[in-house]
Amino acid sequence: MSRFPFGIPFGWYPVAWSFELEKGAVLRRHYFSRELVLFRGESGEAFVLDAYCPHLGAHLGVGGRVEGDTLRCPFHGWRCSGAGDCVEIPYANRKPASARALAHPVREIAGFVWAWYHPKREAPSFEPPEVPEWRAEGWTPDWTHYEWTIRTHPQEIAENSVDWPHFHHIHHMEPPPDRAVRFEGHEIRWHAATTKNVSTLGGAADEIRVVGRNPGLGCSYVRYSGMLETVIVMGMTPVDEERVHMRFGVIGKQAGRSDAEMAGFQQAYADDMALAVEQDFPIWENKVYRAAPRLCEGDGPVPEFRRWAAQFYVADPPGETLR
Ligand code: FES
Ligand SMILES: [Fe+2]
Repeated sequence: MSRFPFGIPFGWYPVAWSFELEKGAVLRRHYFSRELVLFRGESGEAFVLDAYCPHLGAHLGVGGRVEGDTLRCPFHGWRCSGAGDCVEIPYANRKPASARALAHPVREIAGFVWAWYHPKREAPSFEPPEVPEWRAEGWTPDWTHYEWTIRTHPQEIAENSVDWPHFHHIHHMEPPPDRAVRFEGHEIRWHAATTKNVSTLGGAADEIRVVGRNPGLGCSYVRYSGMLETVIVMGMTPVDEERVHMRFGVIGKQAGRSDAEMAGFQQAYADDMALAVEQDFPIWENKVYRAAPRLCEGDGPVPEFRRWAAQFYVADPPGETLR
């Protein structure tokens, strides 16, 4: 029995950093309880397909080769487009009509390759976050980045951000006195302001103000101002129903600092943020999901969060699931 009775929510999830997927590259990945192949065509466009060839099931991520914007299977040389259509069978004139690989919609935004997962293959109903600061004047050009694979579920990670009392016990900071959260359509919009100590900068006190948006359960986009003004993109990509591959990227506003000064400062500042993320891991990896938690005054808006999160699951009976 899964610790999390949810299944995998539909939404946008990072499946690679853009720098991992060079032109002509093929990557094998396991997300959404399935094998995937990522490739970047010669036009520069990134594609994500289910990995097993529609012919006799070879793994396209193991020996598959990019030709133009198509991928050639290593086993018998069939070629699939990035949209999943079989465009060539080297030894047959007619193609079986059903010869298609399942393609996942892809967006590439701000150095992340995003894939849309939906268990019934429905088209995207919203978009991943735009990051106006990415490659903008005055901002560091690349993510200071971190990643972890942990035993939890994206919903549990997202619920953490509205769980006020844990800030004191896990993160050693006061629950933000100035805070607000709104659940709007597919997004959570929230802000919080508090004081914290930056462990990687000698424990310096930092007055922070954090404004965030979570479009769906797969990601969060945060503008964070304190000693350093930063933008954070965090991705929570399900490996399967019990594991998440988290990506955490930080860019900073140079604000007159030299490149050298900025590099060390941003690294130290972001390291402290990453340490704060890691503080939650022992709880997340070992807790259970309580469907009927005993809540009290002072708890965050957990019931409202859960009602909002419910929209990202396909109700039973599931119909044609993505298999
Ligand atoms: S298994 Fe891919 S071409 Fe035969
Ligand atoms: Fe936390």
